[in-house]
Amino acid sequence: MGTSSSARRNRFPLILLAAVATGLGVYLFTLFFAARLSEGPHTSFLKIPAVALWALLAYFTVRLVNAALFDFAFRIRRGYEAPTLVRNIFTLVIFTVLFVLIFKWFYSEINLGALFTTSAIFGVIIGLALQDTLGNFFSGISLQADRPFQIGDVIVVSQQKHTGVVEGITWRAIKIRTFQNHIVLVSNSNAAKEAIEVAPRDNLNARLIFFSTVYTDSPAKTIHVVREAVRDADNVSEKITPIVRIRNLGESSIEWEIKYWLEDYAKYNDTDALVRQRTWYALRRNGLTFAFPTRTLHLERKVTARPTTAEDEIADRLSAVDVFAPLSTDELRQLAMATVGHVFAPGETLIRAGDEGSSMFVVHNGRVQVQLTESGKSRPVAVLSEGNFFGEMALFTGEPRTASVVALEETEVLEIGHAAMKHLFETNPSLVESISWTIAERRAGLAASAEQATPNSLAESAGLLTSIKRFFGLR
Ligand code: CMP
Repeated sequence: MGTSSSARRNRFPLILLAAVATGLGVYLFTLFFAARLSEGPHTSFLKIPAVALWALLAYFTVRLVNAALFDFAFRIRRGYEAPTLVRNIFTLVIFTVLFVLIFKWFYSEINLGALFTTSAIFGVIIGLALQDTLGNFFSGISLQADRPFQIGDVIVVSQQKHTGVVEGITWRAIKIRTFQNHIVLVSNSNAAKEAIEVAPRDNLNARLIFFSTVYTDSPAKTIHVVREAVRDADNVSEKITPIVRIRNLGESSIEWEIKYWLEDYAKYNDTDALVRQRTWYALRRNGLTFAFPTRTLHLERKVTARPTTAEDEIADRLSAVDVFAPLSTDELRQLAMATVGHVFAPGETLIRAGDEGSSMFVVHNGRVQVQLTESGKSRPVAVLSEGNFFGEMALFTGEPRTASVVALEETEVLEIGHAAMKHLFETNPSLVESISWTIAERRAGLAASAEQATPNSLAESAGLLTSIKRFFGLR
C-alpha cells in the first residue's frame, strides 16, 4: 500500500502538467474556432475535437481533484489512506456530471433525459446483466460505510475457509492475502451475507494453545513453569501475562490451555509454534511429562496413606521441628511412619477457623499463611514455612480451630494424629511443656492481631500444661 500511494503522489505533477496543457489546448481551440463553431455547416464536424478536448480536460481535472482530495487532504485529516472504492465512486459521479454538462453544452438539441427514460427495456437488460456486479458494488459501499475491518487486519471468512490479512476492498471483492501467501478474493456480496471474524491490527488478540501432562505432575508447578517460558517469547505481548489453566481432567491426562496475547496477530502461526516449542523445553527442563493416551490398570490393594516422600526424608524433616528436637532417632522414625502426607494447591485452605480438629501438621515443602477473619475480611497473622507446625492448638486443647490456614504456594504437609502424639507424650513428658509454650505464644499473637488484651504467657502456659495433660489423660 505504501509504495502505491507514494507512486500516486509522484504522478501528481504529471497530472497537473497534463491538465494545464489540455486547458491551454481548450483555450486555443476556442480562441481559433469560436466564431466558426457557432455558424456554418461544418460546425458538427468541428464539435467532435471540441468535445474530445473538453472531455480530456474534464478527465485530468477529475484526476487532479481526486489526487488532491484523497492523497493529501483525506490522509492528513483521517490519518489513513482513502479506500479505493470511495475514490472510484467519487470519480464516477464527477465524470458523469461533467459528461452530461459537456454533452448538453455541445448537443443541446438532444434530450439526454428522454434518451435514458425511453430505453426502459435496455435498462432492464443492463440491470439483469449487472445484477451481481451491482450487488457487489452496493455491498462494497456498505462495507466501506461500516468499516468492520481495515487494511492490515486479519479476517476469517467463507465459513472459516479463508484466513488472511486484508489487502484491499475493491468494487467487486475483499482481497485477502492468506498465510500461504495466496490471494483470495471474497466477493463483497458474499462477505456482506456471512459472519466475518476480525482480529483488528491495533487490538491485543489472543490465541489458545493446548497440551497435556500426566496426572502425577504438579499443576501449580506446571502453571509456573509454562507461563514463565511463554511470557518472554517473541511477539507474545508483555502487556498481559499469559494464562496457563486446566481445561479438562481427561481420561489419561490433565489437559491444559495456554492463552496468550500477540503484538502482531498476522504472525500467529510462527508464535503458536514458538509457544509450543517453549512449552516442550520448559516441561523437559523441569521434569514434567507430556501425556499421551494411556490406560492404567490398578489392582486393588490395601492403600496405605503414605506420603510420596521416603520415610527417612520425613524423619529428617521432623527432626528439624523445634518441639521434636528431644526425640530419639527411633522415635522420629516411628513418628514419621505415623504421618500422612497431603499436597495443597496455592490458595487452598488447609484448616478453617471454627472447625473441629484432632490432628496437627508439619510443613514439609512450601508455605502457608495463618489468617484471622474479621467482618468478612481476612487478616494475616503469620506465615509458616518448612519445618514449622500448625493445628496443634485444637489437637492439644480439644477446642475449635483458632484460625484459618491457607497455602501460599504448592505445599506438602505431614499430618500427625492424636494417637501418635499421645504415644510421644507418654515417653517424652518435656514435649507437653514445650508445646504448651508454643501455644501460649501463638495465643498471644492471635490476641495482638485481634487487638485484644494479650494474655500473660507464663500463667497461660502453666494453665495449658494442665489442660493438655488432662485432655490426653496424662499424669
Ligand atoms: P489451631 O487452632 O488448631 O488451628 C489454627 C492454627 O493456626 C493454630 O492451631 C495454630 O497452629 C496456628 N496459629 C494460630 N495463631 C498463630 C500465630 N500467632 N502464629 C503462628 N501460628 C498460629
